[in-house]
Amino acid sequence: MEQSEKTINPMDLIKKIEVALNDSLETISKCVSINELNSLTVMTVGKKSQLIELRSQLKNVEVSARKEIGKVLTDALEKVEETFKLKQSELNLIAEQNYDRNDLTEFWAKLDNTYKVKTGGLHPVTEAQWDLEEIFISMGFSVTDGPEVETDWYNFEALNIPKDHPARGMWDTFYLESGVPETVLMRTHTSPVQIRVMKCYSPPIYTVMPGRCFRRDTPDARHLATFHQIEGLVVDKGITFAHLAGTIEKFTTSYFGPNIHARLRPAYFPFTEPSAEFEITCTVCSGVGCRTCSMTGWIELGGCGMVDPEVFFAVGINPEEWSGFAFGFGIDRLVQMKYSLNDMRDLIENDLRLLRQF
Ligand code: PHE
Repeated sequence: MEQSEKTINPMDLIKKIEVALNDSLETISKCVSINELNSLTVMTVGKKSQLIELRSQLKNVEVSARKEIGKVLTDALEKVEETFKLKQSELNLIAEQNYDRNDLTEFWAKLDNTYKVKTGGLHPVTEAQWDLEEIFISMGFSVTDGPEVETDWYNFEALNIPKDHPARGMWDTFYLESGVPETVLMRTHTSPVQIRVMKCYSPPIYTVMPGRCFRRDTPDARHLATFHQIEGLVVDKGITFAHLAGTIEKFTTSYFGPNIHARLRPAYFPFTEPSAEFEITCTVCSGVGCRTCSMTGWIELGGCGMVDPEVFFAVGINPEEWSGFAFGFGIDRLVQMKYSLNDMRDLIENDLRLLRQF
């Protein structure tokens, strides 16, 4: 038996090696996807490849010819492995490019006189909104969305701001030509979402409501006609002003870091009673006093207060049983402070020199 196996003709084996080599190379070159190539690993460069099988026949060749055939076989194995690796990097690149093509932030930018594919980033306001959502989620709040086009009832009436209320002057409104005049409008704040939440869900409620708001203001260094707010609403049993103050302090230190604090000052809003404005340590001078904060060390960020019983009546929640607080502030203002931007209008100019810095 041993004798007969040893009779393999060296030339035959070399031919077989050549056929196996060409076969493997052809299989590899025909692959069109990285997945297809990977699925052929064992068959082409692994244990089950034709060349590895031929290696086991080496012992059946005349001893004198083994060395030479062994070299042919090793060269063939190396060639297949090399071709496999090359194909792998080529197909990986194609897979990567295909993947990038699905990236909607990708754009062509002219850099150094050639066009290059660049990926865009998040606008600082979007980033701030997402960061705020994360902070509030970690504090146990949910995130709720609401419509940008509102009715007078949600934006004003239900928030205890009837038609003739002098406080309407706080919100210069864009009205839409739809139905009865001055009944459909672009929301002037995110507070109408409070009303929608309280009408839809029963307490306990812990939610934040970010979104775009619109006011008929002339844009200036600290105001935009289209801007972003985030509203917070808590309704539960035994909620007090201390919970409100604690929540605002907690979010301030989480967002800005441990050296920036919040303080409340008495204010007036028709939908909260008592109401307060909240201020945070000036981020420009860290509270020492500078031009930005008019030497006070504090900068106003938003409004807040305990939900007015009139609002609870409007949405059918019993104020004898439940109490709550609400707050709202501008996200654009927050970003302006975080990056010490002189002019808020820079945020909507879409100047790439500014946007690329984020
Ligand atoms: N909606 C108010 C504004 O736009 C802010 C606010 C929200 C005040 C919630 C009190 C409670 O100015």
